[in-house]
Parts: sequence; C-alpha cells; structure tokens
Amino acid sequence: TEYALTNGYCTVKILNYGAIIRSFCVQTEDGLKEIVLHYDSAIDYLNDEYYLGATVGRVCGRIENASFVLDGKTYILDKNDGENCLHGGYNGFNSKFFSAKTVGDSLIMTLFSKNGEGGFPGDITFSVTFSLVNKGLKIKYHAESTENTPFNVTNHTYFNFGDTFNTEVFIDADMVTPVKANLIPEGFLNVENTPFDFRKFKKIGESIDSDNEIIKICNGYDINYVLNGKNFRKVAAAKHDKLQINVYTDMPAMQFYTGNFLPNNPQKGLKRRGGFCFETQRFPNAVNNSEYPSVIVKKGKVFDSETIFEVVRTEY
Ligand code: BGC
Repeated sequence: TEYALTNGYCTVKILNYGAIIRSFCVQTEDGLKEIVLHYDSAIDYLNDEYYLGATVGRVCGRIENASFVLDGKTYILDKNDGENCLHGGYNGFNSKFFSAKTVGDSLIMTLFSKNGEGGFPGDITFSVTFSLVNKGLKIKYHAESTENTPFNVTNHTYFNFGDTFNTEVFIDADMVTPVKANLIPEGFLNVENTPFDFRKFKKIGESIDSDNEIIKICNGYDINYVLNGKNFRKVAAAKHDKLQINVYTDMPAMQFYTGNFLPNNPQKGLKRRGGFCFETQRFPNAVNNSEYPSVIVKKGKVFDSETIFEVVRTEY
C-alpha cells in the first residue's frame, strides 16, 4: 500500500513495505520535480538489494564479524555482507510489512520485531512517523525493547538532483570514522586536508575518485561523519539546479554514501552513483567498539529520534 502526504509544495509517497520513501516531489518553476531514486513496480521493491528509500534497522550499518557480546552473552547475527552483518541482516526492517495508520496529518508505521530476530535480543516495538513540515519531511523514530539490545535506525533514501557529481554538499563535521578494508570503522580521522572535508559546500565529484586510501576502499564516499554539535540541529545540505536539501537531526552521526554499489541498470532507473544518501544514525559497529558512544537501548527504556529533510528553492 502506498500513502501520500502532500501540502501543495511537496508530495511524499511512502510504502507500508519497509516504510520506504518511494517518492519525494517538490513544486518548482518547471513543475513537479522528483528528487529521490525509486522503482516503478512493487516486485522491484521486494527484490531490492540497495535499500532504496528504506527504513533500516534493527542496527543500520555494519556489525563486524556479525557478532557481539552484551551482558556477558555472545550474539550471532546474519552474515549478509561478507563476514559482517549489514543493516540488520536478512530480515531487517527494510523487508518488513508495517502496520500503518494516519493520525491528524501524520502517517504512523509500526512494527513488532521479535526477540531473537536476526539474532538480536529483546522484543522491539518500533514506530516511524512521517509528517510534512513547511518545506519538507519530518521522520520521527520511536523504539522500546524488553531486553538490553543494540539499536540504530536510519532512512536510506537516495537523493537525486540529476547529476550527483555536480551536486554541492555541505556536512557540519570535523571528523569521520575511517574504515578498514572490510568497511568497518575504527578510530577517528580529522577531515582537514582530506577529500572528506565538506565544511564548505563542495561538489561531490571533486574528490570522489581521489587516490585517498579510504576513498579507494569505499569506491567513493561511504563513510560515517561525526556530526558537530548536539541536540536537534542542521547537519548537512546538498544543492544543485536551484534546489537545496537541508538535513536536521538529533543523531550524533551520518553516513554519507554516494551509491557506489548501485548497478548500471537503466531499465530499473539505477546508475552507479546515480544518487546519494544522508543516513542520519548512531555510530556503526559501536556494539563492538567502546571508543564510540553506546547504541544499547536498555530494557524498559525508550529510543526517540527525529530527522527532517527540508527542500528549498535557491537562486544561484
Ligand atoms: C552502506 C553501504 C552499503 C549500502 C547498501 C550504505 O548505508 O554504507 O556500504 O553498500 O548502504 O545499499
């Protein structure tokens, strides 16, 4: 089932499968403009391997060796990315049917994830609420667990302004978490004098193929930014062709991913680097790495978080 939220300026369409953002259209001088990658058919969503527009959990990003130890117990997860667990494993939130209801102007999608699902402990009751704010989309996440459990949720929308290389990006972050050959982050890296410095607007294409070792491992940008500041704040932006996306979140981090693993498949509307993701999140692999802030949701405690993707028209 597809739901549409509209306010005359933007129209966002969301599927009850994967709580997927299937369409994000904005009214421009030249008519409605679609700014996200999407498929035409439901089957393509069922077969999708690229998380197009999906709500991603229980734990987004990679967990090294698909295992972790919590409260003295070892948990074994799905190895769906080489030796690692990616985006919650084979039965992640992206592949679930959510219950949907509308309350006022909001669309609330709910999911129950059973203790042991994907190898993770605790029953999780999860909801994601979509609503339109003046010029964009607000996404609110809520989760509760019956056991201590790692939890990290994001949205995997690929924004597409028609030309990823010439899209200019800003990310308010002094540091990234550099990755090893298996794409697992370790330590911290200051972005100064690296291709990862987006503290001033810079074209994605400028350094996407630089001979920086990490860029080569990732085939472009696929890295976790340690966002400056705390609480709800503006953390990133992207602009091209008179449109600008602004990203606001209370999350501490954001994966900037330039679709390096997307295939060239014109029939499906896909192209390598044909879009880019601003995945607001907590730190990847934090459950195995004590130098990163904890992602454990404690038994009986709640997780709440909010991200806004705002789209404004610019003149430049
Ligand atoms: C990850 C990529 C991964 C992609 C899957 C992103 O969040 O950072 O490494 O290939 O998701 O579509």
